[in-house]
Amino acid sequence: MTTFKRNILITGGAGFIGSHVVRLFVNKYPEYRIINLDKLTYAGNLANLKDIENQPNYVFVKADICDYEKMQELMELYHVDGIIHLAAESHVDRSIKDPFTFARTNVMGTLSLLQAAKVYWEGLPEKYEGKRFYHISTDEVYGALEMTHPEGIEPPFTTTASSSEHHLAYGKDFFYEDTKYNPHSPYSASKASSDHFVRAFHDTYGMPTIVTNCSNNYGPYQFPEKLIPLFINNIRHRKPLPVYGKGENVRDWLYVEDHARAIDVIFHNGKTAETYNIGGFNEWKNIDIIKVVINTVDRLLGRKEGEDMDLITYVTDRLGHDMRYAIDSTKLQKELGWEPSLQFEEGIEKTVRWYLDNQEWMDNVTSGDYQKYYDSMYKGR
Ligand code: NAD
Ligand code: TYD
Repeated sequence: MTTFKRNILITGGAGFIGSHVVRLFVNKYPEYRIINLDKLTYAGNLANLKDIENQPNYVFVKADICDYEKMQELMELYHVDGIIHLAAESHVDRSIKDPFTFARTNVMGTLSLLQAAKVYWEGLPEKYEGKRFYHISTDEVYGALEMTHPEGIEPPFTTTASSSEHHLAYGKDFFYEDTKYNPHSPYSASKASSDHFVRAFHDTYGMPTIVTNCSNNYGPYQFPEKLIPLFINNIRHRKPLPVYGKGENVRDWLYVEDHARAIDVIFHNGKTAETYNIGGFNEWKNIDIIKVVINTVDRLLGRKEGEDMDLITYVTDRLGHDMRYAIDSTKLQKELGWEPSLQFEEGIEKTVRWYLDNQEWMDNVTSGDYQKYYDSMYKGR
């Protein structure tokens, strides 16, 4: 039997960000066993990991993080010494319609995983030594920032906190690691609560935890309920693009592989009990991003650039729609040497190209066929 140097449990590995993290770890660390634990909700898609599913250091387990006994069983079965916890309900609009599911998975599920890790690790002779519980969270827990203008300077202006000289900011405030939590949506409230539980397990039991809060991710394999993949697909099929409110809300966008690289760096080199903010210093108003996406899709499909602008349809605003997110990732950049690798224009071009080249993936997701993948590949294994 092969023995592995480490046994790392990654939860939510069949989702968007999780699949990039699993792929990175499986390929980069053949000496680690990577156990991907996922319930395969509507957001989980094993086709996201086709390219690595037969690697000898990869295991998939279909399970619900809320199933405490199952979590305990898996800790022992796989001798888990590291956890990277991404499993969550992740879409704000769904949380507005069904907050209970968010409390269940994001709060109770995280607690169940924490408790299972605690009981298992405390029962080992070396206890917490060499262990790590890394919780992936969001910048949305900090609430919303205003669109403020530093005196004497008209927006857009350049921030000094960034390593990128061309970054435009829409206000002088940013989210820092010590910014007070002030979540507004059921999604962000549930993530904030899970973050508190993770920190409480460090403070109360001495569990070696880390929390990171990241801004909006974009890139391949994102479920087409989120802005960028939804709009790419709609433009392709010339369907209306529902822009909430006036399209003036601002988000900071990071290419998903840059997030996965940050997770790798922090998992290995981050300090226990610390929080790190992860972001691109890359703020965009929704309407501006939408125009870039339309132009890029049109160009790559051989249409006249901008000819699909009339698909933009302003619709009723999201309830409690946060105005602006902007994250300061200076601590991560200075202490651990991470920085985003892609300029946004490059990242968007890559992303649009990926969705257009992978229409089959998109069709499987939109038709629901992707949910049959588990049955054909894993059931009965
Ligand atoms: P996603 O919705 O694409 O994937 C979530 C995954 O978790 C899916 O594979 C799903 O099947 C799985 N899952 C859901 N409930 C589960 C349960 N009870 N048990 C086991 N697995 C379950 O989400 P994502 O966008 O990849 O986000 C991953 C994590 O990163 C989340 O914790 C999210 O809060 C956080 N995050 C996301 C973003 C973003 O822009 N997408 C930004 C910052 C932080
Ligand atoms: P989303 O991708 O849902 O991420 P989040 O809510 O976590 O930031 O949305 C990004 C932004 O785009 C957000 O301000 C809401 C807006 N949006 C629309 O205008 N129309 C849409 O159809 C969607 C899904 C989002």
